[in-house]
Amino acid sequence: MSGGAGYETLLVEERDDRVVVTLNRPRARNAINAAMVEELHAVCAGLERRPRLLLLTGAEGVFAAGADIQELLERGREEALAGINSRLFDRVARLSMPTVAAVDGYALGGGAELAYACDVRLAGESAVFGNPEPGLGILAAAGACWRLAELAGVSVAKQVLLGGRRLDAAEALRLGLVAEVVPDGELLGRAHRLLDRMARSAPGALRLTKLVLDARGPHPLADDLAQAILFESEEKRDRMRAFLDKGASS
Ligand code: COA
Repeated sequence: MSGGAGYETLLVEERDDRVVVTLNRPRARNAINAAMVEELHAVCAGLERRPRLLLLTGAEGVFAAGADIQELLERGREEALAGINSRLFDRVARLSMPTVAAVDGYALGGGAELAYACDVRLAGESAVFGNPEPGLGILAAAGACWRLAELAGVSVAKQVLLGGRRLDAAEALRLGLVAEVVPDGELLGRAHRLLDRMARSAPGALRLTKLVLDARGPHPLADDLAQAILFESEEKRDRMRAFLDKGASS
């Protein structure tokens, strides 16, 4: 799956240390349809086989305007219970290496939920987050009802989900929902620099840190077990020796 070949709804660029995925249905404002869900599962499968960093963004100045409303209209109880989007976004959230969403323009409905499922969000100045699902007679069932509360607090989540509040880039920054706001034209470059920094860390340490960070509740045992694995790694010894040797030679 290199260079986006074979994808109808995504542009996929494979690099040694990262995969860059661009949601690419600009005529439907990158709305997430069944084909995109399937293709994002394929990307996840590739990242599960060979863990790398993931950078997720949207084509033509929009992240994603939600699940595809044309398809939602036809979906019933069975499709809801199948958790079409929630299972995908959970899979993205559980990817072992860090994930970054570079959001410019609209991240609405399922688009916002996909961004919430990533580890870090960077915003272009035009970014707008919102969950207008109740306006369409449904609820935001793919993570917003709990992930947004975790990320920005219950009060903000209720304003967004019940009050229809949209968060622009500056508000998202103030609430800690995004790490940084940059001019739209600089968004991808900035995101790659963040991934460059992540890529300089020991991959095993990143993976175990993410695993422990995402564990629920206090978990000193998990932290100790993860550390026990890392303390025995050659990579830790090399990195610490390099640090100490640098100190000795200066
Ligand atoms: N599902 C399916 N199609 C969508 C879509 C969605 N979530 N969002 C946008 N589109 C389509 C529109 O139907 C339109 O199609 P058309 O050109 O065939 O008429 C096209 O994308 C462009 O949308 P438009 O509304 O004209 O663009 P805009 O730039 O004026 O507005 C939005 C952009 C995102 C504000 C607006 O499209 C919107 O509100 N979308 C729905 C958001 C939403 O409710 N998401 C939650 C879904 S659960």
